Amino acid sequence: MMRAALEEPIRGGARWSYVFGSGLAFLVALQAITGIALSVYYVPSSDHAHASVAFIQKAVPAGALLRGLHHYGASAMVVLIVVHLAQVFLFGAYKTKRELIWVTGVVMLLITLAFAFTGYLLPWDQAAYFGTKVGTSVAGEIPIIGEIQRRIMLGGSELTTLTLSRFFTAHVFLFPVALLLLIVTHIFLFRRAGAAGPFHHREDHRVESFYPRQMLKDAVFMLALFVALAALALKWPADLGPQADPSSDYLARPPWYFLPLFQLLKYFPGQLSLIPTVLLPGALFAALFLLPFADRRAERHPFRRPIATGILALSLAGTVGLIALSKYEDRANKEFSTRFKEQEEASRAFLKSKFEPQVIGQVLAATPGVGVAPTSFGENCAVCHGDRGEGADSAPSLIGITNKPNRTPEDLLKILNDSRTYGLKEPMPASFDLSEDEKRQIVEWLKKLK
Ligand code: HEC
Repeated sequence: MMRAALEEPIRGGARWSYVFGSGLAFLVALQAITGIALSVYYVPSSDHAHASVAFIQKAVPAGALLRGLHHYGASAMVVLIVVHLAQVFLFGAYKTKRELIWVTGVVMLLITLAFAFTGYLLPWDQAAYFGTKVGTSVAGEIPIIGEIQRRIMLGGSELTTLTLSRFFTAHVFLFPVALLLLIVTHIFLFRRAGAAGPFHHREDHRVESFYPRQMLKDAVFMLALFVALAALALKWPADLGPQADPSSDYLARPPWYFLPLFQLLKYFPGQLSLIPTVLLPGALFAALFLLPFADRRAERHPFRRPIATGILALSLAGTVGLIALSKYEDRANKEFSTRFKEQEEASRAFLKSKFEPQVIGQVLAATPGVGVAPTSFGENCAVCHGDRGEGADSAPSLIGITNKPNRTPEDLLKILNDSRTYGLKEPMPASFDLSEDEKRQIVEWLKKLK
C-alpha cells in the first residue's frame, strides 16, 4: 500500500508548481474536520443559529480559531482551485488522456462555489441573511426555471428557517458526498493517466518518484497554508454581526467571489440582466467543460498557444478588475460608504461584546402554595412587579392587592384595559395587549397572592 501510494512517478522530477492539487486536498480535509467540530455546536434553526455561532465564537475554547479556520479555509479553497485550474490550463495539462480529469475539476469548482453560497447563510447574521436574499433573488431571475429553483432553495417564497435547514442539509450532506465522489474519481483518473510532466520537451526526461522530494514540497505547502489560515483567524477573527432582522434595511453585498457577477449586473439592467446571470456564466462553464475536447492540438507550451494564454490572462484580469471596481464604487459612494461604516461598526461591536445566553421563554420563580405566575404575567408584568408580584424599586408590590379599595378583581380587569382612569401613572402601561382569558388568568392568580 505504501508503495502504491508513495512511488507514483513524477515526470521531470519534483517541483513547487505541482503542490496545488495536494494543497486543495489538504484544505478539503481541513474544512471537513473543522466543519464537523463546528456542527457539534451549531443549531440549524433561525431561532438558535445565530446564538450558537456566537457561542462558538465567544465562549467555546479555541472556538474563534476553529470558526476562523473554516471561514478563511473556504475562501482559500476558491482561490486555490482557480490557481490550480489556471495552471493546468496554462501548462496544457488537460490534453491527451486527461480530459475527464479536467472536467471533474471544473465540476468541483462549481461545487466549491455552492459550498460557499450555502455556508454563507449559516451564521444567520445581517450580512448572511441579506447577502443570501440578494443571491437567491438573482437566481430567481433566470427565465422558466428561475422561480421554481428559487422556491426549492428557499422552501417557500421567503427566506425563513426552512431555507436555513435546506442550506444546512446541502452544505453538510449533499455537497460533501458529491465532492468526495468527485475527488476519488479525479485522483483515480489522475493516477491512471500519470502526471502530465513539464510542458517543454527539451527538458530532461528523468522520472522521480513522489516520495520523498515531491511529498516534502507538498507537506511544506500544506503547513504554510495552515499557518497562514490560523494567523488570519487569530489576527482578524471571522466576522459575525448582530442577528438577522428581516425588517431592517441592511445594505447587503455578496461575498467577494460573487462580486464580479454582482458588478456586471449593474451594467445590464432589467431584461438584460440575463447576460451576466445566465449567458456569461453559462458560456464560461460550457467553454471550460468543452475545452479539452475542442482543443485537440498536442502543443502544451503556453507561449506557443497565444490565444489560450491570452484568454486566461484577460479572464483573470477581468475578474480581479470587477472585484476591485465593485469595492471602489461602494467606497466612492458617500451614502453607501457611511452605511457600510455603520454596519461594520455594529458588527465589530457585536463581535467584541460578551456572549449573552439566549433566554427562550422566561423561567419564573414560584410562590410557595400559589405556584408560578401565568406566562402572560411573566411576559407583561414581571419585569416591573417581579416574578412573584413582590414588587421592586420601580413598581409596587401586588401581594394582597385584591383586598385594597378600588382593586377588586373587577377593578383589576378594568385597570388592565385602562390604568389611567384609576389614576395610575407612568411607567405603569396605560393598557395591555392581552386576551380576555389572559387578563382573567392574571387576576385569578393575583387573587391568590396573600
Ligand atoms: C413598566 C413597568 C410596569 C409594568 C410592565 C407593569 N406595571 Fe403595574 N405598575 C407599575 C407602576 C410604576 C405602578 C405604580 C403606578 C402608580 O402608582 O401610579 C404600577 C401599578 C400597578 C397596580 C396598582 C398597584 C396598587 O398598589 O394599587 C396594579 C394592580 C398593576 N400595576 C398591575 C400590573 C399588571 C397586572 C401588569 C401586567 C399585565 C403590570 N402592572 C405591568 C409598573 C408596571
